[in-house]
Amino acid sequence: MTGEPIAAGAPVNGEAVAAALARLYDLDVSEDPGDLDLYLALAARSGGPILELAVGSGRLAVPLAAGGHDVTGVDTDPAMLDRARRAANDVGKATARRLRLVEGDARTIRLEDAGTFNLAFIPLNSIFLMGGRADQAAAVATLAAHLAPGGIAVVDAWLPDAEDLARYDGRLILEWVREEPGTGRTVTKTGSAHFDQTMGVVRLTTIFEAGLPGEAPVRWVRTDRLRLVNPDELAAHAEAAGLEVETLAGDYDLGELAPGAERVVLVARRR
Ligand SMILES: C[S@@+](CC[C@H](N)C(=O)[O-])C[C@H]1O[C@@H](n2cnc3c(N)ncnc32)[C@H](O)[C@@H]1O
Repeated sequence: MTGEPIAAGAPVNGEAVAAALARLYDLDVSEDPGDLDLYLALAARSGGPILELAVGSGRLAVPLAAGGHDVTGVDTDPAMLDRARRAANDVGKATARRLRLVEGDARTIRLEDAGTFNLAFIPLNSIFLMGGRADQAAAVATLAAHLAPGGIAVVDAWLPDAEDLARYDGRLILEWVREEPGTGRTVTKTGSAHFDQTMGVVRLTTIFEAGLPGEAPVRWVRTDRLRLVNPDELAAHAEAAGLEVETLAGDYDLGELAPGAERVVLVARRR
């Protein structure tokens, strides 16, 4: 992910840009994706410790730690990790103590306690951000390398349909307008995406504009390269990594992956 402010407002350095984009990420996911109950249920079944790759600002890791589990979160972005740390502290000391945050790359990281985790996952499309097919396979292999025998791996990825992809022709789409908690600023999210069918890649440009009424808005621009993945590929990555596929589900209730499913949720077990 890269980002830069391109409009009015005080000059900012790279760290401030990253912090702003991390804050805006939280505003983006303030509309609940609906996946937390799945991870809480799996954690209750498997027990901890838990590993989340691409932990971001702790949207899932913090409530899992608050629920009494030892959680390790890995992410490449220090600004996101910083928000996760603060969110855990806001919940309380016990939660903060149970959450270990590590700056690292999901494709290559090997923690000293690899082989001891009972649940390890890559949630909410983060697999798309890993790079190409081999990078995605490497991230799934990282899950496998950290699980104890019998431990559970989960990867969750959106499955866009033809209509979704047809909209990815560069047109500008207004995603939402929201009020930012704390500052009261109105934030507008607009996006433009290009789908490259040959590579299965969506190139996404996101523009956030934030401001108070009557004031010049500050604009932030973020670009992401999302390499889509299909259920067969995910299952193949899991098997190649020594995982046994338990379910390829089509939603967070682990319902059937039927034609037209909006997402694939892979649940696999370390042999
Ligand atoms: C969509 S956010 C997901 C955050 C969080 N897991 C959630 O569900 O809200 C994706 C995260 O992936 C991180 N990321 C991207 N590439 C990564 C990589 N190679 N290794 C680790 N983290 C990565 C980004 O920094 C970002 O925080």
